[in-house]
Amino acid sequence: MQIVAIIGSYRKGRSIDTLVDRAVAGVRSAQPEAEVERINLIEKRIEYCKNCMVCRNDDPAKPVADCVIDDDMREIYPLLERADGYIVATPVNMGSSTAVLKTFLERVCWVLAKPGRRPLPGCPVPRSARKKRAVAIVSSGLILPVLRRFCDNATPLIKDVCRCSLGARMVGSLYAGGVEKRGVEYYAGRAFRLGKRLVVE
Ligand SMILES: Cc1cc2nc3c(=O)[nH]c(=O)nc-3n(C[C@H](O)[C@H](O)[C@H](O)COP(=O)(O)O)c2cc1C
Repeated sequence: MQIVAIIGSYRKGRSIDTLVDRAVAGVRSAQPEAEVERINLIEKRIEYCKNCMVCRNDDPAKPVADCVIDDDMREIYPLLERADGYIVATPVNMGSSTAVLKTFLERVCWVLAKPGRRPLPGCPVPRSARKKRAVAIVSSGLILPVLRRFCDNATPLIKDVCRCSLGARMVGSLYAGGVEKRGVEYYAGRAFRLGKRLVVE
């Protein structure tokens, strides 16, 4: 089993990085043979999508469409395609994902998807028919879980991209609210259990 963890925080070793570590530990506790690839987006050279639509118009039979941009996404696309599951993690910044994660998701959108028919003609559907799983981890500095619905547009975005482009059903999510006050360890056990849930039916 291959798991790809995508980390959208600007800070290594802080909340999101730590929670992803715990989720990965949860994965390994349930599936010791699982291969986990951690992709820290901030360390990668990832350019903005150009809206050239070469990927969207590429042969729908290809599992990974062509992208005209020559950057680190070239090596990331095959990892995403091969993966059985994903951990997608980001701080909540201004109510949504970080810019680095959004940039990454835009680059993924049509390279791993093709135009479909539902819910509307032309909407992305995964190029691969394989059934995959995903979990999301988001952290917010101030807003406690009870107010999550006013603050967290990141989780629905991740859920949509997982379903429409990566072919992955979201089986759980963690909202680590108010980490500046509560501290990240408060959420560590939940992140561990979330990682387990990713790989255990
Ligand atoms: C530009 C910016 C915008 C932010 N917006 C929010 C916000 O809307 N709500 C919130 O609770 N925290 C907000 N924060 C705080 C981050 O969510 C918090 O620092 C982050 O979850 C910590 O993750 P990290 O330790 O992995 O960097 C913001 C931080 C920055 C830098």
